[in-house]
Amino acid sequence: MRLKDKVVVITGAGAGLGRECALLFAEQGASLVATDIDDERIAATEAAVSEKGGRIVALTADVTSEADARRTVAAAVEGYGKLDVMFCNAGIQVPGYPDVKFEDFTEEQWRRTLDVNVTGVFFGCKHAVPALRANGGGSIVVTSSAVAYASARRLAPYATSKGAVNALVRSLAVDLGEYGIRVNAICPLHGMSTNFLSPADAAVTGLSMEEARGAWDPRKSGMPLKLDRPPTLRDNALAALFLASDDSAYMSGQCIATTDGGVLGGLYLDY
Ligand SMILES: NC(=O)c1ccc[n+]([C@@H]2O[C@H](COP(=O)([O-])OP(=O)(O)OC[C@H]3O[C@@H](n4cnc5c(N)ncnc54)[C@H](O)[C@@H]3O)[C@@H](O)[C@H]2O)c1
Repeated sequence: MRLKDKVVVITGAGAGLGRECALLFAEQGASLVATDIDDERIAATEAAVSEKGGRIVALTADVTSEADARRTVAAAVEGYGKLDVMFCNAGIQVPGYPDVKFEDFTEEQWRRTLDVNVTGVFFGCKHAVPALRANGGGSIVVTSSAVAYASARRLAPYATSKGAVNALVRSLAVDLGEYGIRVNAICPLHGMSTNFLSPADAAVTGLSMEEARGAWDPRKSGMPLKLDRPPTLRDNALAALFLASDDSAYMSGQCIATTDGGVLGGLYLDY
């Protein structure tokens, strides 16, 4: 029970990694406030957690709204009496990805990506801090991305947003350390949600991109690590659990690339 008696807020918990973490963190003893912009999705997460005996308050909330961030933290403090962990997980890919070339990105696409992925994290952290301070400290976890370190085609707005988030994590670790608040990020690449690239009203699959591709043959995967199963949402959720829990009590300001199978460790040499 790594989160026994801990109160945890998770944003973007209606699908993908957020829902997987809601299920895992509840199994690990956490009392949850789980939010999503989509009311049907968050209601389904609430039902799935409750069915397994977990404690959960579900809210429809948009991370780009400061009022919603305030309301979310208040739900934890008023509902459970405190906040231990703020997990800023909600994020979006640029609307139109991967079809949009850099020079064709619109101002709206650029701003929306930064608004959700950066300002959303800012609001979540800002409103969590007073509650975490009142609690004598706690943990902020952010879902960033490995593209903060190494990018690929047509990812400029998204990679920019995740690079900014990593800088925010490092800055907050310095600012908030004196309050006993730790701030870290997971930076996933593989084992992540198919829903991320689907329309907002698509059914939630609970699957990683690699699982959804069908039978797994490690020889056909470009990942250096050749395991006999595809990477899953649970692999990333376990990394988030480590950062949320006291297992990482002496870690702060760290942005950890998760489940990349060594990809970020490899260099391409042209000889
Ligand atoms: N899927 C990937 O390939 C991948 C890779 C690396 C990092 N990430 C990051 O992982 C995090 C979780 O995404 P996921 O892969 O589970 O995707 P997902 O689309 O399955 O889940 C994200 C959830 O966030 C919600 N959401 C979107 N905008 C929101 C807003 N403004 N306010 C509140 N909720 C909102 C969505 O409704 C959805 O339920 C994101 O920060 C994403 O950038 C994803």
